[in-house]
Amino acid sequence: MSDVNKRVYLDYAATTPLDPAVFEAMLPYLWRESGNPSSVHASGREARSALDHGRQQVSEAIGAQPHEIVFTSGGTESNNLGVMGSAKAASYRGRHIVTTSIEHHAVLHAVRALTNEGFEVTELPVDSCGRVRPSDLEKAIRPDTVLVSIGLANNEIGTLQELETLTRIAHSAGAVVHTDAVQAVGQVDINVDRLGVDLLSMTAHKIYGPKSVGGLYVRDGVDVWPQVFGGAQERNLRAGTPDVPGIVGFGVAITRAKQSRSARVSHYRELVTVLVREVVEGCPTVRLTGDPCNRLASFASFAFRGIDAESLLQRLDLDGIEVSTGSACASGSLEVSHVMQALQLPASYRRGALRCTVGMPTNRRDVEMAAASIVRQVRVLEKVADKSVGGM
Ligand SMILES: Cc1ncc(COP(=O)(O)O)c(C=O)c1O
Repeated sequence: MSDVNKRVYLDYAATTPLDPAVFEAMLPYLWRESGNPSSVHASGREARSALDHGRQQVSEAIGAQPHEIVFTSGGTESNNLGVMGSAKAASYRGRHIVTTSIEHHAVLHAVRALTNEGFEVTELPVDSCGRVRPSDLEKAIRPDTVLVSIGLANNEIGTLQELETLTRIAHSAGAVVHTDAVQAVGQVDINVDRLGVDLLSMTAHKIYGPKSVGGLYVRDGVDVWPQVFGGAQERNLRAGTPDVPGIVGFGVAITRAKQSRSARVSHYRELVTVLVREVVEGCPTVRLTGDPCNRLASFASFAFRGIDAESLLQRLDLDGIEVSTGSACASGSLEVSHVMQALQLPASYRRGALRCTVGMPTNRRDVEMAAASIVRQVRVLEKVADKSVGGM
């Protein structure tokens, strides 16, 4: 069969397929073992034991205690609970929050919502690689700063932050530290004590686990107010019947991610090296976005000059190449993403951001096909752009 029918998925930062071993582990709980962990009878106890096991696995993977894990519906809810829950709980001490201009919207929109409740928010700038400067955090912190939320790895460019340093600065001023580690889990060796963070968000579907399940690490003694009200589940921090099959899957996915982390990372690195080399060779004016050294291994993020990434994305899709852009399409008009704006790329590059992220099933042929298609389509779009400028 020719390759024409083969689709190349290079969007693993958006989501990953379910690992068959994860699926196998979930299966009994999707079907026969359908008890509610709050019930006292045998079926309930079986579900409770699966829930406890999942909690044990997730906590072990990040160096936490089982009771410090709150299961949620994913990264968005974990971020909302971590940010809003901790800021409100600390509001008697002050109402100032520090975050960065490149956070995921699940953090940015949560802190902006808090401004309606009297909180003030400082969004730190980043350098051209997407790194937060510790000196900027030092300057931004005030006596009334109660929360600092800085993502461990950015979801558009893969840049990793120097979180240990940033956490020390925040703690020396008495602030609670939250990190969105949704993209980092599985690729970074995460230990909550080494990082020093108080709150850490995770999701299962970026590590070959199921969708709509995740967790928030809450350090012992850190006060968080619930954001979902109802029953007393999750130590009164998150009401609602827990997704037992999802949590079972999350536990297995995070354990497997930890066990095979170095093999996965070197696989990703090899593929990204080929992809980046071939794209750079074929498109000499391309810029690589993100930190060249401190970044997630699975990320290859580009900015093309004078090109509209949305058109590039559509052309690549027709070629069977599935990637994503750094821009969000809002009400029909292409908006430059907040991350690309924060990087202060030259204006001619801002609309041309493309993110390719590799995964476990990706092979060398996939990235070669993707690179060839990207180079071909960028050249076509460059010609179109030249003609339209010439024709003016
Ligand atoms: C950095 C980051 N935070 C949060 C989220 C949201 O996670 P979820 O899709 O599990 O709600 C994502 C997902 O794209 C992400 O990349």
